[in-house]
Amino acid sequence: MTTNNGFTPGLEGVVAAETALSHVDGLKGELIIAGFPLAELAAKATFEEATYLLWHGRLPTQTELDDLKQELAALRPLPSATLNLLREAAQVHTTPMDALRMAAATLDLGSSHTDPLTTGKMVVARVGTIVASYHRLRQGQPLITPDATLGHAANYLYLLTGERPSEARVRGLETYFNTVIDHSLNASTFAARVIVATQTDLVSAITGAIGALKGPLHGGAPGPALETVFEIGTADRAEAVLQAKLDAGERLMGFGHRVYKVRDPRAEVLGAAAEKMYQADGDMALYELAKAVEATAVRLLASHKPGRNLQTNVEFYTALLLHGLGLDTDLFTPTFAVGRTAGWLAHCFEQMKNGRLMRPQSRYTGEMDREWVPIAAR
Ligand code: ACO
Repeated sequence: MTTNNGFTPGLEGVVAAETALSHVDGLKGELIIAGFPLAELAAKATFEEATYLLWHGRLPTQTELDDLKQELAALRPLPSATLNLLREAAQVHTTPMDALRMAAATLDLGSSHTDPLTTGKMVVARVGTIVASYHRLRQGQPLITPDATLGHAANYLYLLTGERPSEARVRGLETYFNTVIDHSLNASTFAARVIVATQTDLVSAITGAIGALKGPLHGGAPGPALETVFEIGTADRAEAVLQAKLDAGERLMGFGHRVYKVRDPRAEVLGAAAEKMYQADGDMALYELAKAVEATAVRLLASHKPGRNLQTNVEFYTALLLHGLGLDTDLFTPTFAVGRTAGWLAHCFEQMKNGRLMRPQSRYTGEMDREWVPIAAR
């Protein structure tokens, strides 16, 4: 969408960075992460392996993986200033994403790390602890001490629930984290790159990215998507409820994408992971209802916005998978952030190595040649 004098609203189609991290083909519905098709990486890698891949451009050896796991585990406990902030935030009922954004900004308080990789490890390790600790503080539950014997995904579930999760649940969350770990120049990643391109610090970039992810047009959609499925309740009500939303000018959450004009490949991967999990240990009726809602939504959107190709995006099955893992709706976007932080940092490292200050231009649409009027005469 380019207007005649070079203005591109929303920067749609503008190439603003080169990256070796992920490749999105919106017409084929393809997502490649550092050379691997998403479906393969998501299902096979641990979160730590995927993180290493993005940060170093190759898969780790066993020793390198063990070292990264140990380092991340050792960095999980939060500084007392961060915990104090979370306690105060819980008292005034701050939302989890706002609490995460505020707490992330404190992460380098008192830190002597100047090496970006060490700071990155500290941020990745602690973002999960922030989200899980804040959840427990809001519920009035005692905090759980991170378990250094557990991997990142397992420890996150443990910090939330106080119970060691089953292998199937850990695999479900691992698949989710890997699926959302990176997605080219999306809004939050772009925000992180713009910030770090000024040669400021990594914590500033991650804090800004969290703020961008919070918005309902980006990472804030899975909660409302699941609420819609619950509101519909039975498949025979899907058409009436969804049509009423469209007639009222609402957007159907979990559908449409700036880049994908076919079904988001992440929806495919997460849909399959959700099906496996619900079949093993979940409410299959809810899974079937979600499938029916998806089919109805895609059909209605096709006649609501002909030619727009509004298809299912990542958020629809994110909602179903994370709900199946027992996560409350308000943890969906923060959990997205826990996975995406590794990708944001990978983009920051890339930007720091090769990047140039991001400074586009704007087209002035205001008035010219105004005459100053003294305040008494206005
Ligand atoms: N429901 C109803 N109508 C929609 C939807 C939707 N989900 N998505 C787009 N449209 C309509 C828009 O109203 C617009 O109509 P118009 O041209 O008559 O004004 C048209 O389709 C094109 O939409 P745009 O907003 O221009 O498309 P854009 O590329 O900017 O939007 C976006 C992509 C923001 C994701 C949009 O599809 C949307 O709002 N979806 C719902 C929210 C959502 O699921 N967000 C998560 C995205 S995935 C992620 O960020 C991780």
